[in-house]
Amino acid sequence: MLQRLWRPRALAIGMIALVALMQLVPVWAWQTNPPVVTDVAWTTPEAASIARRACYDCHSNETVWPWYSRIAPVSWLVTYDVRKGRDELNFSLPLREPAELAGEIAEVLREGEMPPQPYLMLHPEARLSAQEMHILITGAPGSNEPDRDDETSSW
Ligand code: HEC
Repeated sequence: MLQRLWRPRALAIGMIALVALMQLVPVWAWQTNPPVVTDVAWTTPEAASIARRACYDCHSNETVWPWYSRIAPVSWLVTYDVRKGRDELNFSLPLREPAELAGEIAEVLREGEMPPQPYLMLHPEARLSAQEMHILITGAPGSNEPDRDDETSSW
């Protein structure tokens, strides 16, 4: 009996049933785009467009939810990332610490933390060149300290 369960066909049916059951978890209830209250005052249009391209899916209320983001278990991971990302930093809400923004962005980019690797695999267009990183950092509100250039010029 137990042996029969391990037959390829039984295993395949079991997997399909499991994936089907996963779809019943109602993550779609969290896959919302709340109202955009404001938008960060990027100081250049280039910075705004780079941020939209590479960061807004997780750090704004303008998330694009692709078809695969609706299918479990991928949907669980995507939804978790968006909720967590928005909690940390949401460009669609007034910033908690606007003066810190440029420094924080510089840090996560320098360390290669953002955008997260799994996201980049699915969104190669979100990969930023050194020059684009520089534009994004210097285009963040509050990035007018003169030493900011030194910090990023090595890219
Ligand atoms: C796939 C979703 C996703 C994308 C895209 C993304 N982030 Fe994040 N970001 C997160 C999550 C999730 C966190 C919460 C920290 C963590 O769990 O790593 C975070 C945290 C941050 C933080 C706060 C870090 C801290 O330690 O407080 C900054 C700053 C940040 N992201 C900047 C960016 C920038 C700039 C971009 C675009 C270049 C970007 N992120 C793109 C998901 C994302």
